[in-house]
Amino acid sequence: MNNQKINVKKLIWQLVLLTLLIASVFGCGQTVAEAPKNINVGVVVYDQNDTFLSEMLAKFKDDLKAKTPEGVTFTCTVRDAANAQQTEDNAVSELLDGGCNVLCINLVDRTAPSDIIQLAKEANVPVIFFNREPVEEDLMRWDRLYYIGADAKQSGVYQGELAAEFCAAHEGVDRNRDGKIQYVVLEGQPGHQDAILRTDNAVNTMLDQGVSLDKLGYRIANWNRAQATNQVSQLIDQFGSAIELILANNDEMALGAIAAYDQKNITATDYPVFFGIDGTTPGLEAVVNGSMAGTVYNDQKGQADAMAALTIRLALGQDLSDFGLINGKYIYKDYYKITRQNVKNFTS
Ligand code: GAL
Ligand code: CA
Repeated sequence: MNNQKINVKKLIWQLVLLTLLIASVFGCGQTVAEAPKNINVGVVVYDQNDTFLSEMLAKFKDDLKAKTPEGVTFTCTVRDAANAQQTEDNAVSELLDGGCNVLCINLVDRTAPSDIIQLAKEANVPVIFFNREPVEEDLMRWDRLYYIGADAKQSGVYQGELAAEFCAAHEGVDRNRDGKIQYVVLEGQPGHQDAILRTDNAVNTMLDQGVSLDKLGYRIANWNRAQATNQVSQLIDQFGSAIELILANNDEMALGAIAAYDQKNITATDYPVFFGIDGTTPGLEAVVNGSMAGTVYNDQKGQADAMAALTIRLALGQDLSDFGLINGKYIYKDYYKITRQNVKNFTS
């Protein structure tokens, strides 16, 4: 009997203590500051040696740091897929195991995002694809998939406009005075949305603007400077000084083409004019020193900024309704034409 009384008393006291404890934790209805959150971003890039993407990711990290709210910690792990989709899929798996809460993925093969989507969905971790756009059907497979990039067609049109304007202003581009511009195109990776669209639109825009063109050749150099040097060396061997204009799908390949002429000690008056796309640091330098006639700015700053802002919102579970996503999924940043006249606006 006595023992029972003691047990009831003990129980009452325990209940009182528990009530006090709950009241202190929840501040009697007041909201208490939430525990600091963590933004853990996992990034995988198709090839860490890609100049445009390295520059973009350096900006992304700076932006993440600058935009992360006070009291929130962040970590950003970047992995290299070394041009293999399987390596990229494995990296995603490891990043998810490591507790990342947002993935930023630059696909090796833009037609093969299935495994990554499946893994992310199982872990309920949102994915921002960037630079290499998955087909719409894939992006529609889950509502937490996004894409940040640019409209490749626009960059091709702008490159064609730059080249047409340059030819109109400089009769000397047509060195053999046959009324046609003998040209060569250096293309990025086959299957990449930027490669085919840039080539087609640059060439068609020049034709639309009344430039007579004579195609000497197309070469694939996979966005890569050394491959472009190699390809253009062969073209010089084949065509001698006949090439009057080189359109490259990106700055790195334009720079590789220039290097091929430099290596062969070609007389300055026998150089073609070169156009790139990207506006990377070495690309802008080439416009400043006049070795490249123009380029098109692929807005790495804007893309990095948007990716950092979206990453933070997703990691903190914030609302996206005012973020300006097209169809709730897409962000496309505009390109800009760059010539020697306005290059200073992009170099700082
Ligand atoms: C393009 C860019 C290239 C290369 C490629 C990689 O947008 O112009 O330089 O970075 O993406 O996917
Ligand atoms: Ca000519």
